[in-house]
Amino acid sequence: MTRVTLQLNGAARALETDPATPLLYVLRDELGLNGAKFGCGLGQCGACTVMIDGSAAYACLVPVGLVGSRAVKTVEGLGSADKPGVLQQAFIDEQAAQCGYCIAGMLMRAQALLDRHAAPSDEEIRRGMAPNLCRCGTHLRILRAVRRAADAMRHA
Ligand code: FES
Ligand code: FES
Repeated sequence: MTRVTLQLNGAARALETDPATPLLYVLRDELGLNGAKFGCGLGQCGACTVMIDGSAAYACLVPVGLVGSRAVKTVEGLGSADKPGVLQQAFIDEQAAQCGYCIAGMLMRAQALLDRHAAPSDEEIRRGMAPNLCRCGTHLRILRAVRRAADAMRHA
């Protein structure tokens, strides 16, 4: 066991853990942040996506001991059920979720995209979101939600 301090959603969170533990397990099992989901555990589905230093990352593949001082952001850092963030509200408005399992990962990949491209083209949104899969097939609604959020952020 090693003491690890994560910079998580803007606050330092310290814990004792095996540094080889995937970040996803630490978030869910040790820190109670259940937004990011376990889908494949192989970097192939995106259900576990979080942001690390502003980039989308598969939390199932990142050993917590390698995160270091980099800033980790999870879906819990975007807003709450009572006060959804702009991107979350756009997903609600477009009814982008069916079962919802992929949505936290979709949100984090979309946030990383919009942080880098304030005005992405539809093709850039499509390409940017491609690594994340939705088994319910709501991709078109998800793409519309990202477009809606981009427009809302620009006009805020
Ligand atoms: S659970 Fe991490 S990519 Fe599928
Ligand atoms: S909404 Fe069910 S997997 Fe995407």
